[in-house]
Amino acid sequence: MELEAGQVAVVTGAANGIGAALAAALVARGLRVAIADIDTESLRETAISLGDKVIAVPTDVAEIDQVRTLADRTLDAFGRVDLVVNNAGMGAGGPSWEIDPTTWDRLWAVNVGGVTNGVHVFTPHLIAAGRGHIVNTASLAGLTVGMFGAPYAASKAAVISISESLRGELELIAPGVGVTVVCPGPVDTQMFRGLAEFADSSGDAAPESEAIPPEIRAKLAPMMEAVTEMAKETVPAARAAEVIIAAVESGKLYATTHPEMALAARDRTEAMLESFGTPR
Ligand SMILES: NC(=O)c1ccc[n+]([C@@H]2O[C@H](COP(=O)([O-])OP(=O)(O)OC[C@H]3O[C@@H](n4cnc5c(N)ncnc54)[C@H](O)[C@@H]3O)[C@@H](O)[C@H]2O)c1
Repeated sequence: MELEAGQVAVVTGAANGIGAALAAALVARGLRVAIADIDTESLRETAISLGDKVIAVPTDVAEIDQVRTLADRTLDAFGRVDLVVNNAGMGAGGPSWEIDPTTWDRLWAVNVGGVTNGVHVFTPHLIAAGRGHIVNTASLAGLTVGMFGAPYAASKAAVISISESLRGELELIAPGVGVTVVCPGPVDTQMFRGLAEFADSSGDAAPESEAIPPEIRAKLAPMMEAVTEMAKETVPAARAAEVIIAAVESGKLYATTHPEMALAARDRTEAMLESFGTPR
């Protein structure tokens, strides 16, 4: 979908990071934008910095009623919706068996429920209009093995799968409505900085956990070093925004900030096919 002045976008998780950078880039293109976030303080500041083409709607994307209110407020203010970016997300990690069930539930509700709520509420509007685009934010972590980050990796794998299904469905039912799933690599935001600081500060380089004996902790050093190395490859949030806009405009299903890192997906698929005994 070509982005044009006067169109309307909804961006969740837009108080900070990639969402805020994307909202700024869309405003610069002349779009009106409804920004939504649970962090009401930063949301207000971001809205003020973006000016009068923006409305701020405090929203917990895990709550369907709040996402419905986001749609109502957007339509009341702007009268249309063209682009929906389900970007809000959170992280959580640790040994899979130690992660508290409430952490699993909350992360799933935000990272997956936030996407499915956005899809459920906004897709009918786009179908009715016969045009538009939905962007769901996954991660390269959803394409690779997510040791000590199972909730996050699994949630992003789910977002990829949901987006692929949605894309196929809309191609049949409403071909004017596109779908993109963005799989960022390391982007310089508070989320990635938190992970990098953790990897940097973990001394003998392993997640703090009694479940990990000292001799195993040493073996995890390369993993933590890999995060530290990845931190050197971060791109600014504005770059992620450019990648998303380019994917929307070219109608691409998959987009990433780090194509070279996506090679890990091939390694994983090859290992899987080998294990299945799939003929080559
Ligand atoms: N930064 C990276 O390296 C990276 C890499 C891959 C994927 N991502 C994904 O990109 C997206 C944006 O993350 P970011 O890096 O800009 O991080 P960020 O922490 O700067 O921004 C995430 C935003 O989501 C908001 N949020 C969290 N829970 C919410 C909820 N329940 N309802 C509404 N808003 C909520 C936060 O308040 C925050 O403003 C996330 O989905 C993240 O998983 C980021």
